[in-house]
Amino acid sequence: MKRIGMLTSGGDCQALNAAMRGVVKCLSCSGEAVEIYGFLEGYKGLIYGDFRMLTGADFSGILTKGGTILGSSRTPFKLMREPDENGLDKVEAMKQNYYKLKLDCLVILGGNGTHKTANLLREEGLNVVTLPKTIDNDLWGTDMTFGFQSAVDIATDCIDCIHTTAASHGRIFIVEVMGHKVGWLTLNAGMAGGADIILIPEIPYDINKIIEAINARAERGSKFTIMAVAEGAISKEDAKLSKKEYKEKMKNYPYPSVSYEIADKIQKKTGLDVRVTVPGHTQRGGSPCPYDRVFATRLGAEAGKMILNGEYGFMVGYKNREVIKVPLEEVAGKLKMVSPDATIVQEAKLTGISFGD
Ligand code: F6P
Repeated sequence: MKRIGMLTSGGDCQALNAAMRGVVKCLSCSGEAVEIYGFLEGYKGLIYGDFRMLTGADFSGILTKGGTILGSSRTPFKLMREPDENGLDKVEAMKQNYYKLKLDCLVILGGNGTHKTANLLREEGLNVVTLPKTIDNDLWGTDMTFGFQSAVDIATDCIDCIHTTAASHGRIFIVEVMGHKVGWLTLNAGMAGGADIILIPEIPYDINKIIEAINARAERGSKFTIMAVAEGAISKEDAKLSKKEYKEKMKNYPYPSVSYEIADKIQKKTGLDVRVTVPGHTQRGGSPCPYDRVFATRLGAEAGKMILNGEYGFMVGYKNREVIKVPLEEVAGKLKMVSPDATIVQEAKLTGISFGD
């Protein structure tokens, strides 16, 4: 008999349910008796002992369902060691609930912050297996996270729709793409949607270079320009500021987001008509794409296999088209960013895409 606790933490994404289903299907197909304790709303559920017993039926029919049947929330890692408003020691509370329920292990699905806490729980002696979810694809130790490909599809659809209207009106269009502090989503959706300019946090932009790219297109007879701008895009000047100086500057930031700042600057410098579209959380919503369904199922099944073998302390990752085990201590606290020298960036540049640098 295996007693397994499961939780989904951080921002949700597509294929969380598919991944959990993969774990449970693998365990039930093995013939091993399992009890599944589903902790609700991420680590909160584990801290406060808020869980639901789940059976195979709960995982039936959820392969294509977006969101997470367990709910999710963000419990910042930096607050984990701080007592809650009633003085509760959160880490101790999680450990007590784990031992009280006599769990064999925790299956934790999440992104960067989630992995820091998962590693903390491992250090505290709990058996943990994790699965890499995030539309940002910024988890260290894995080439791919589930949710990413589905989000690329949605952001690409958005750019495709903008393309037709941009062409009719001869305007400059900015599509702001999620991704937090990394540019994977913007880079991939931008290339897939045929964006002319792609701005990502890893390659700070110069507004004059952006305008040069727009003008060069106009000179070649293209009246419109499509820009895919990462929500974390940053100018060369701002990238030079210290963390403190940047924080100070952002206190009086007059724009809803970076895309509006860029739009304003282009408009003022060129007089061109600029429009901003922000698909926002739609990028995390809806059904997982077929790639993510397969990918999440594979990772989930491997996690199930690891549990059956009693192999703990790993994230199930993906490298060079193979599913692999990555020690949690290697994953925690690191970001996988786009290297400005990456071949994908160079190839994008070879096809004429400007990165505003
Ligand atoms: O990490 C996933 C993500 O969607 C990021 O791309 C984005 O910056 C962030 O979460 C948004 O967070 P929230 O849902 O808390 O607004």
